[in-house]
Amino acid sequence: MDYLKIQGPAHLSGKVKIQGAKNAALPLLALSIIARGKFTLTNLPDVADIATFLKLLGELGATYDKKAANEVVIDTKSITHQKATYDIVRTMRASILVLGPLLARFGYCEVSLPGGCAIGARPINLHIKALEAMGANITIEEGYIRAVAEDGLVGANITFDKITVTGSENAILAAALAKGTTHLYNVAKEPEVVQLCEELAKAGVMIKGIGTSMLEISGSEGELLEFAPIRVIPDRIEAGTYLCMGAITNDEISVEDICSHHLSAIIDKLEEIGFVLSVNETSITLHRAKELAPFSLTTGEYPAFPTDMQAQFMALATQCNGTSSIEEKLFENRLMHVSELQRLNANITTSGNTALIKGKSELVGTDVMATDLRASSALIIAALIARGESRVHRIYHLDRGYERLVEKLRGLGVEVSRERE
Ligand code: EPU
Repeated sequence: MDYLKIQGPAHLSGKVKIQGAKNAALPLLALSIIARGKFTLTNLPDVADIATFLKLLGELGATYDKKAANEVVIDTKSITHQKATYDIVRTMRASILVLGPLLARFGYCEVSLPGGCAIGARPINLHIKALEAMGANITIEEGYIRAVAEDGLVGANITFDKITVTGSENAILAAALAKGTTHLYNVAKEPEVVQLCEELAKAGVMIKGIGTSMLEISGSEGELLEFAPIRVIPDRIEAGTYLCMGAITNDEISVEDICSHHLSAIIDKLEEIGFVLSVNETSITLHRAKELAPFSLTTGEYPAFPTDMQAQFMALATQCNGTSSIEEKLFENRLMHVSELQRLNANITTSGNTALIKGKSELVGTDVMATDLRASSALIIAALIARGESRVHRIYHLDRGYERLVEKLRGLGVEVSRERE
């Protein structure tokens, strides 16, 4: 296992080019299952979760050609298996995204139940409910979801009890190939969901309401779809993570190749803290703040403040002058980074899913352990300002979602190295 060694306090400067969005690329890889012929993705992030999803497609029988680090051409006509096994699903929950498209195309599939994870129980009942409404017969046997729809899926009216990103994506993917019209209510509006809908619309699927919480999708009645090459949208969470790095050291840095309107909630929060940002359509420059004011935030579904940025802002709160409050609303166990930040000398108390962070603390480098992807990036952010050396262990979590992290950090002037345990 590798760990990251970071020397603090760091001073950052320069620009960082942002990768394609992991959470947009994953449903787009699932989209390849309902494609006829070759399916090309560019601006594909070169991260472990993408490699895992490609491996899963390979296990189903698809072939793919990784043309370059950030480009893949997939051919799913050779799919012969409809089973996503436990071995792969347990390493990546997003494997559940094959459920809708496999069922829609083959009328049958099996997907291992993902189980809980470090940030909460994360059930998939809403994915199942949506597919059942479209006529699937679903049973859970021996840890597997077995879904059958012998005569294909049929359009239905579906209201999600709770907003779910991958649940919405599964339903959209299934509805695209179903017979008749599907109405989806209380759908997730995340930019990653929007891109999935836009690509389906470009392929000829009639979708009304893209970007809203109500979608009307007219299915292709089982006909596979043809797609022109798709460029994955920029990763708003990677961009936000780097902005937090510049913010915690209070240095001027720029993030490039982004879609800035996807970062509105993050920009607003940084401005509330005291930063001035120069925002263009595809780049943001964060300028130094005179003083960092405390803030409060509550996570929510897009366009509210993203849960995937909560941990990074908690690291930043340690350097604000006063008490900040952070409430996690989406996941029941997503404050695991608190105890690790405390190891770096942060002053944080929690009550339920709310953390109170008292600043400004002088952080001191030590050994810390990553628990999930975004918690890990919070530890990197804190380590940048901590005095002395920090060693962030279990960085395989970071490899799942941050492309060329060490290289990008070095490019910004951070003294960092990847070491073997
Ligand atoms: N939920 C249910 N039942 C379901 C589905 C979800 O109760 O059937 C609940 C969840 O337990 C949670 C809430 O609904 O409390 C929202 O979960 P959601 O389904 O939206 O999460 P997800 O689709 O599993 C995606 C991202 C996560 C991100 C969340 C929230 C992907 C591949 N993953 O997960 O990203 O945190 O949406 O925005 O898109 C990450 O990138 O680090 C990451 C965890």
